[in-house]
This record gives sequence, structure tokens and C-alpha cells, in this order.
Amino acid sequence: MFFIKRKIYSTRQISGFLAKSCRCFSDSVRLVNIKNKIKEGPGLKEFIEHSAEPVLLDRPRIPYLSNNILDTSKRKVYFDVYGCQMNLSDTDIVWSILKKEGFEKTEVEEEADIFLVMTCAIRENAETKIWHRLDHLRGFKRRRELSKNKLRPVKIGLLGCMAERLKEKLIEKEKAVDVVAGPDSYRDLPRLLALTESGQTAVNVLLSLDETYADVVPVRLNQDSVSAFISIMRGCDNMCTYCIVPFTRGRERSRPVASIVDEVRQLADQGVKEVTLLGQNVNSYRDISEHTEKDETKLTEGFKTVYKSKTGGLRFADLLDKVSSVNPEMRIRFTAAHPKDFPDEVLQIISERSNICKLLHLPAQSGSSAVLQRMRRGYTRDAYLSLVEHARSTIPGVGLSTDMICGFCGETEEEFQETLSLMEIVDYNVAFLFSYSMREKTTAYRRYKDDVPEEVKRDRHYRMIELYRRKCQILNEAEIGNTHLVLVEGSAKKTGQIMGRNEMYLKVLFDQSEILSEDGGRRKAKPGDYVAVKIVGARSSVLNGVPLFHSSVREFYRDVGWGERTKLRV
Ligand code: SAH
Ligand code: SF4
Ligand code: F3S
Repeated sequence: MFFIKRKIYSTRQISGFLAKSCRCFSDSVRLVNIKNKIKEGPGLKEFIEHSAEPVLLDRPRIPYLSNNILDTSKRKVYFDVYGCQMNLSDTDIVWSILKKEGFEKTEVEEEADIFLVMTCAIRENAETKIWHRLDHLRGFKRRRELSKNKLRPVKIGLLGCMAERLKEKLIEKEKAVDVVAGPDSYRDLPRLLALTESGQTAVNVLLSLDETYADVVPVRLNQDSVSAFISIMRGCDNMCTYCIVPFTRGRERSRPVASIVDEVRQLADQGVKEVTLLGQNVNSYRDISEHTEKDETKLTEGFKTVYKSKTGGLRFADLLDKVSSVNPEMRIRFTAAHPKDFPDEVLQIISERSNICKLLHLPAQSGSSAVLQRMRRGYTRDAYLSLVEHARSTIPGVGLSTDMICGFCGETEEEFQETLSLMEIVDYNVAFLFSYSMREKTTAYRRYKDDVPEEVKRDRHYRMIELYRRKCQILNEAEIGNTHLVLVEGSAKKTGQIMGRNEMYLKVLFDQSEILSEDGGRRKAKPGDYVAVKIVGARSSVLNGVPLFHSSVREFYRDVGWGERTKLRV
């Protein structure tokens, strides 16, 4: 028998699939030379012989492959991670799956038997970086083949969004690639890698409607980090016209609350002090495994979606409530969010809990209503500005972050100026600024023209960055004299000072010294400590401070409401 995800197929069915070159099969698993393997493979008798054996998803039995082919244990894997935080979190899932199968990890290229590249497809330049990395890996693989030492041949696997976008075309274009695995097929990696042992290439790019890896306990690549990412949902249903993500990550689905809370608890036990809840659109989270009233999503006023309103299940506000209650000393962040899903319950719980960071990601993408309409964002400039005002009045002092794109199809100078004016008005604490990159398959690719010349895009991008830096400098200088609660991460590479982050995720640097501790003594700051730091200097992307005392989330905010927290002067 042969296992594809959770279904079991007979060899006859498989041959049938192959004969018809059925799309569903070719999209899911294409194994080069498989026809021959099936012909030479075992008969029905052998399958019946093993039919009483339990089906083990983790280690599928493939009778026509000899056991030593499946023995991939002790092979050393080198991870290369590109793209967004979802990819970082997915890498922890992949490592968990492979570790369980006996694979080892290395951070030294020369020791590696397998290179796994976690890829991104969001913009052309993200893919260019990966092609360059592949050039290097191809050379490495070739040198290993020619080497006189009898070392294992190197295998290269491409995982993630670019793998999903290009599918088998990747192997056609880059012959050095052995495995292509999309974001929903990581459970299948041990088998895909096993197949490469006999010189085959293997592709699994099947997208799933329900895969959330809820039962896979991620193993963090960086065990020393005081912060961790937790995926709470996968995929995206929004279909913004410029964006490839719905095509590479599939439909939106949420992971059950219970498994998320368990993971937060385990991380807290390991000493992690900050978790970031991840998804493409975390605030549309719905755990439908929990039975609740079939309430319809009430969108923020002035906002609409392209998909049918979702109903029932636990919502993002419920999740925030449960996650922030695990440990009051664990800081909670979340990203990415869509402005359409910020009901009062979400804003309320953020304002009430001192361990939920008061930084809202409200990606505007553009300041022009006409561009927003072409982008299919579902809101106007005015609706967005009303939401900003509402969020600021519900959570006084809240910080805001955004993503902005310049040079989208048909963007005029006047429309771009509206983006600049939105940035002037809103005073973002954090902004990710991009130049538009046309992606195949998207609605914009089919419907619009990528007609803003490259040099105009570059110029607009530069102007956005200039404005952002200037505004940040002013915002940051206003913090001089205030005291921030800083979670220490480690030392700054350049200066060797202690580096931590404040609630706005801004880097704060201070000199190492003996600091007043909770018990009245003095001790130095170490990663994972909360320190109250008085801000004495500011640049556009970093603050400098003087450490005052060791503290905790509860202690720091005990006597001050959120409104005063950034204004706390000691
Ligand atoms: N789901 C998240 C993140 C999506 S990707 C969100 O909606 O916020 C991160 C950012 O990349 C997007 O917010 C958008 O600003 C940018 N982006 C997406 N597609 C792009 C494209 N084709 N060209 C340039 N920037 C793009
Ligand atoms: Fe892309 Fe829009 Fe989904 Fe974000 S919300 S991932 S920008 S389609
Ligand atoms: Fe890139 Fe995929 Fe993230 S396209 S930005 S890695 S969701």
C-alpha cells in the first residue's frame, strides 16, 4: 500500500491515477520512476500479509522500497530560512518531525547531508535570493560528488511558499533540487527524503483544508531565545489582488485553542518570556472545534470581505484571554492582522491585560481609497482612519504598525501622496515598506498592468522610508525621560551593550552593570530579565537607556494604568 496524507491507496488505484495523469495525484505526490517501481513491486499477497499492521502516519511503510532506503536516521540537516515569521515557526515544526525520525541538525555546511531551504515567494526579490542560494548549494553538491572521501551525497529540499508556487517546475529549472514540499506537506518529509536515497526526486505540494500541525510539538531551532513564535492559524481567504499568499498557503484554518494554550504553557515552563501568535490574519481566528453559538463575524464599521462571513467557534478575543492567562509574566504579541477584524472585545482585552503588548498591527497598504479598492482591501482611507481613532481611544497610548506598498498597478503620484499623508497623520511606531512586485496567478496579474516604472517605484519607496525614519526619530525623541519595561534578549553585536525590546518592539540598549534586584540586592541583567530602563537617547530605530531596577510585568504596571505606563518617570 501507499500512503498519501491520511488516505490509503492500492497499487492498482495508484497506477490508475498515474495512467490518467490525474491532476489531484500529480498535484499531491509525483514520484519520478514510480511506475517502474510499482511494476517491479510486491503483489497483492504482500499487502494482505501486512494488512493487520497499524497504520503509522509518521513512518509510512513503502513495501517496494527496501528498508535501508528508509533508514535516514543520523543524516544531518542544515536549515536555511527565508521569508516571514511563519516560515520560522514552520521550520520548528519540520525540525520536530525530522528529529523524531532520527535526523540530526547541523549549523556547519560541510557537515550537512541535507539542505532544507524554507522559501518565500512574496516578491520577486525574495525568490532571487533563493536562486542565488541554490547556485551556491549546487556547487556544494557537485564538489561533494567529486570528492575522493566517501561522503554521503548531498540532498537539497526546497520547502514553503516558493516551492508551492513553482511546484515541479522548480526541479525542471534547477536539477540539483531533490525534494519540493509545500507548506501543508511537512509530515511527508521523512518519506520524501527517504525516496531521494535511491536517486529519485520527490514532490508533495498538496494544499490541505485542515492541516494545522496542531499535534506536532515544535522543537525550536534557537533554544536559547527568550521569545518564541506560535502558529495559531494557516492560510488566508482574503485574496488581496496583489498577494500570492492565498495561492501558496491555501485556505484559512485555525488551530484548536487547547493545543495553542498547551504550547504556551510548555514554552513558559522552558523559561520563554514572550510569544508571538502568528497567522496571515490572526484576528479572524475561529476555533470551530469548540461548539458555540453560530455568531456571525461583525466586521469593523466601513469594512467588508470577499468571502462569506464565518460563524461559530471560539474567536480571537477568547484566544487572547486564554493565552494571556497562562502566565502573567509572559508577554503576548500577535501578527499579522487585518484591519477588518478588530471588534471591541479584542481591543478591550488588549487594553485590560498588562501582558498583552500594546502594539497593534494595522496594515494599511495604501493611503488612497482608489488604490485600496484596486487592491481589494475592503476599506477606504476614511474607514481606516476611523479605526485608528477608535483603537487609540480604547487603548490609550497604543502603538501602531503597518505595511505599505508603493507603485501598485496604476498608482499615480497623487495617490502615492495620499499614502505619505496617511503616514504623516497616523504616526506609526513600526512600518514595513515595500515596492510593488507583480506576482503571477494573482488577480492583479490577470486584471491590471504593472505600469509604474521601476525607477518611479524606487523613488517612491525611498520617499516612504525617508518619511518613516523622520517620524520615528520624532516619536522616539519624545520618549527621552520616560521609563520603559525592557525584556532583555542578549548583547548588541556592534556595541556589546545589553539589548532588549520595549513593548513597541523597539530595541533598547544599555550598559551592563549591577542593577537593583527584587530582593534589595544587586545583580547584572541576563536574557529573560525584565528591567525598568530610563530612556536617555533616541535614534530612529533604537533607544538608549540607563537601567534602574529589575522588575516584572505585574510589578512594573501595578500602580499605573496603561495610559500612564510609557509616561512613568522614576
Ligand atoms: N497577511 C499579512 C502579511 C502578508 S505578506 C498581512 O496582510 O498583513 C506581508 C506584506 O507583504 C503585506 O502586508 C504587503 O504589504 C506585502 N506584499 C504582499 N504582496 C506583495 C507584492 N506583490 N509586492 C509588494 N509587497 C507585497
Ligand atoms: Fe496577502 Fe491580503 Fe492575505 Fe495578507 S490578508 S496574506 S496581504 S491576501
Ligand atoms: Fe513569504 Fe510565504 Fe511568508 S510568501 S511572506 S514565506 S507566507
